[in-house]
Amino acid sequence: MRILIGISGGISAYKIYELIRLFVKNGDEVKVILTGNAHHFVNPLVVETLSLNKCNSEMFAPRIYMEHIELTRWADIMLIAPATANIIGKIANGIADDLLSTTVPAMDGTPVLIFPSMNTAMFNNKAVKQNMEKLRALSYFVFKPVTGQLACGEEGRGRLPEPLAIYNLTRSFIKTDYKKPGNSFKGKCILITAGATRAYIDPVRYITNDASGRTGVEIAFAFYMRGARIFFIGDKKVLERFPEIFIYSEKIFEVKTTGQVLEKAKHIFPDIDIYVSSAALSDFSNEPEKNKLKKKEGYFEFKIPTGPDVFKELSKIKGKQVMVGFALETENLKENALRKLRDKGMDVVLANDNSAIASDKTTGFIIDRLGNKVELKDCNKTLLAEKLVRVIENIT
Ligand SMILES: Cc1cc2nc3c(=O)[nH]c(=O)nc-3n(C[C@H](O)[C@H](O)[C@H](O)COP(=O)(O)O)c2cc1C
Repeated sequence: MRILIGISGGISAYKIYELIRLFVKNGDEVKVILTGNAHHFVNPLVVETLSLNKCNSEMFAPRIYMEHIELTRWADIMLIAPATANIIGKIANGIADDLLSTTVPAMDGTPVLIFPSMNTAMFNNKAVKQNMEKLRALSYFVFKPVTGQLACGEEGRGRLPEPLAIYNLTRSFIKTDYKKPGNSFKGKCILITAGATRAYIDPVRYITNDASGRTGVEIAFAFYMRGARIFFIGDKKVLERFPEIFIYSEKIFEVKTTGQVLEKAKHIFPDIDIYVSSAALSDFSNEPEKNKLKKKEGYFEFKIPTGPDVFKELSKIKGKQVMVGFALETENLKENALRKLRDKGMDVVLANDNSAIASDKTTGFIIDRLGNKVELKDCNKTLLAEKLVRVIENIT
């Protein structure tokens, strides 16, 4: 892909060095525009060396004629990261007084992804907020900054997401065909569980599985792109591998065991509209031996009772919620999935074989409570999430 990155003058601009490396390592071609003030935060020589392309800043100089038009026609996608309050205000109000702010309005249908980053008070400032809303209304894709410690020493929302988060999000975006931000789930609360849980055998050993959590993260992306509020329950591995979940989610609960998933999910369940249970939860209970099991001749001996069934427990308190379950089976996929749909009170079931575990692709099908079926054949997980969310759209 040909990726055009606009860097404006925010303190988090240093993170874009790493973002450029991620794209170049993946085989993408990268060109960069720096605002005049971005030069205070990043070095054009470093940008040129990492991107393997010349760095663009000048509107008016010998041998530079219509750079702002050429770059827009070259790019498959454009990112502005970090986007300062200043550049947001300029684009939202049609001001074009340097190369970056002149290039953006010259874009002809190419998607522009904007990543604001600034102090929390600036981010919450009414004028800045209104400008971000204007950008959304103008079909730009504006992604929330994340919460944490800011360069100024304060805590709050305003951090530029990690380079890996922006990279992963861009990859998901490229696989879809969004033309503008959606609103079909605007204001709806979605609870998604993702990844794997652990069942401890003793204080230091546990049983788990290889689920990466990618499906749940892609589902969060598909809902987020349609205006939903995301609540996410996942394990540490998921949060580290897919840091973009911090962009999509309003609240994240990090868990280790199935019991913890049940506790968090039950707590938040009354407030949510749609529950998506994509996590590969351990079926074993988490009642470990008090002491570390000692090595013995022959074999270890221990019993693991069955753990809680989160979906069943939540079904008991189901009200308005649409409930989406998963069936991962190594045999009799169809029968087992339909039995789960019926017995567990699911509104939609996504059934797949075990090729889905720790992989980017899956094969299976989605069926809703009305019997509508969508086949999945070697379907990448971004598209799987799109298909699933469209099925949910049709029954809500
Ligand atoms: C040390 C320092 C850090 C800054 N960090 C940010 C920032 O993170 N976000 C932001 O919106 N503005 C930040 N600013 C203010 C912008 O640099 C300023 O508004 C500038 O006009 C932006 O120009 P540009 O949008 O053309 O790059 C910072 C300024 C300084 C001096």
